[in-house]
Amino acid sequence: MTPQLSERAIILAPHGRDAAIAALILEEADLRSTVCTSLRDLVCELEKGAGFALLTEEGMRSDNLLPLARWLAAQPEWSDFPFVLLTRRGGGLERNPAAKRFLDMLGNVTFLERPFHPTTLVSLAQSALRGRKRQYEARARLEELHQGAERYRSLFESIDAGFCIVEVLFDDQGEPSDYVFVEANPAFERQTGLKNAVGRSMRSLAPAHEQHWFDIYGKVAVTGERIRFEQQAEALGRIWYDVYAFRVGEPEARRVAILFNDISDRRRIELALRRSEETLRAFNETLEERVEERTRALEHAQEALRQSQKLEAMGQLTGGVAHDFNNLLTPIVGSLDLLQRRGIGGEREQRLIEGAAQSAERAKMLVQRLLAFARRQPLQATAIDIGELVRNLADLVASTCGPRIKLVLELDPELPRANADANQIEMALLNLTVNARDAMPDGGTLTISVVCDDLSSGRPPDLRAGKYVHLSVTDTGIGMDQETIAKSIEPFFTTKGIGQGTGLGLSMVHGLAAQLEGAMTIDSAVGQGTAIHLWLPVTEDKPDQTPVGQDIVPSRVDKGTAMVVDDEQLVRESTAHMLSELGYHVIEAKSAEEALRLLDQPNEIDLLVTDHLMPGITGTELAIRIRATRPETRVLIVSGYAENIGVAPDLPRLTKPFKQSDLANTLARF
Ligand SMILES: Nc1ncnc2c1ncn2[C@@H]1O[C@H](COP(=O)(O)OP(=O)(O)OP(=O)(O)O)[C@@H](O)[C@H]1O
Ligand SMILES: [Mg+2]
Repeated sequence: MTPQLSERAIILAPHGRDAAIAALILEEADLRSTVCTSLRDLVCELEKGAGFALLTEEGMRSDNLLPLARWLAAQPEWSDFPFVLLTRRGGGLERNPAAKRFLDMLGNVTFLERPFHPTTLVSLAQSALRGRKRQYEARARLEELHQGAERYRSLFESIDAGFCIVEVLFDDQGEPSDYVFVEANPAFERQTGLKNAVGRSMRSLAPAHEQHWFDIYGKVAVTGERIRFEQQAEALGRIWYDVYAFRVGEPEARRVAILFNDISDRRRIELALRRSEETLRAFNETLEERVEERTRALEHAQEALRQSQKLEAMGQLTGGVAHDFNNLLTPIVGSLDLLQRRGIGGEREQRLIEGAAQSAERAKMLVQRLLAFARRQPLQATAIDIGELVRNLADLVASTCGPRIKLVLELDPELPRANADANQIEMALLNLTVNARDAMPDGGTLTISVVCDDLSSGRPPDLRAGKYVHLSVTDTGIGMDQETIAKSIEPFFTTKGIGQGTGLGLSMVHGLAAQLEGAMTIDSAVGQGTAIHLWLPVTEDKPDQTPVGQDIVPSRVDKGTAMVVDDEQLVRESTAHMLSELGYHVIEAKSAEEALRLLDQPNEIDLLVTDHLMPGITGTELAIRIRATRPETRVLIVSGYAENIGVAPDLPRLTKPFKQSDLANTLARF
């Protein structure tokens, strides 16, 4: 309806000039009007829309008021159409029954008695119009309300989210005990599986529904606090819901609106995601651990490499020095030996010579240990029974340790033989025994065990595959810290006082084990005692039956011609002297070349005693050349250290420095 129509006046005053005058008065007051000539016409105009109607009593005096009555009855609820009825002069309501009838029929009617003052009419018209405008406002609000309700309904019906309004019930203690469904949308059933919920209580629909659901809605109903949460409903099939709940209506009604969604899929995905994140994190953590472990292993390997390179360098240095010392010692030992044997000088001189010989002997031992550490000791490795060796040494070990140390032997009776040098192993064992004794000043237990290694733990990983005899010397002494362990095999490292230890014991044992292609390891901790392990390779060879250590008394029986070849003059002379005392006619040569030259002349020799390492042709080469033309010639290689390279293994050898008896013993054996 256009505003002009809805706010116009409709005038029905069929007699005289009433209508024209009324229209004029209204127009002067800025009010539009439409004049009708009949009641039918009036109803027609009313249907188009109007603000109010101005009627005369005469205009209403028609037989057919029915159409108007119908129109009035059919008004929408908001409409109560206003009329202004002009009555006759002196025709007040109380004296005018007809007017009373109009009041009943028209409802919202104001009477104006004629004649009237124009302003009265205008004022009544304006008041009627104001009333009509308020009706229009009511109409607008009603329409809005209607639309809102419509919207709510369609939303309620069509949304995917479950929606319901519940009335929470409380028990006598005021605790929420149940709730009844007041409304539920179609999605409610899809989301919960609960059918025909409206009017029924939750407990009757799902008796096992958890109490916390009732507590939550009870709180919302009481406090009016809105709440949003995610929760699993076990009783509804373990479904996870995202819920938004708020109070609706009057607080006393205890009604709660609940909007909710099934989020089980999302939760499942989240859970899977969390699990995979955890797996990833765990993987990352172990990755870090693994990297750390690798780094540690690498550092360990680098440290081991550094240590072994250091030992190697030390070995080369000490080996070189020891070799030179050996050459110096050979004539000293030889000459002192000679002076002793000849009984030169008086008793005092003999005592001095004895002292010098003992020092020379100690120097010789020292050099041997150095050579052992440098793995250059001339070794006589044969198949030996380490168990028997230990048994034979037991008395010596026990007396070395003293009464406060208990000696325990654990010897496997079925031991295979090990490829080792018996003398050197004895030396090693004594060294280890002394170390153990020194570590147990207040007494303790020393255990020597020998077993056949069955890949036991602690076996050094760099050991070549194969069987080993495992010899270990264990004490219950003070033990060592990590730093001491690392340094203990370095030559000259000792924690013992000056003159107490040379620091060569473990160096020697370590070098010896390595030279025998075995290994040595240390297992020790401060206050926990120490175990030194030796691994010696098992051999299938037959044991060597040659008796050792029996001095052969030199005899002056003529033994033929011996040639001594050595580039060191003092060594050569000393050896030559010993040989001549043993009954040889001696020819000396200061190099292999000179020896060959001498043999070009008609010189026959029975024995060749030669140094191995010499400038030019080596001793071994010389021996081979001489044997090529004189196969019956006996050959003895005298060597400062085990320079295996180039030494024929079948040639007899003697280690420098040596005494005359050592030389005689060796010569007697071949
Ligand atoms: N069984 C052990 N218990 C505790 N510490 C030991 C043991 N064996 C060796 N050590 C430590 O290792 C160091 C080096 O030992 P090593 O046998 O090489 O030399 P030493 O015993 O000091 O001297 P030497 O053996 O020449 O008499 C020792 O000084 C000691 O500190
Ligand atoms: Mg020692």
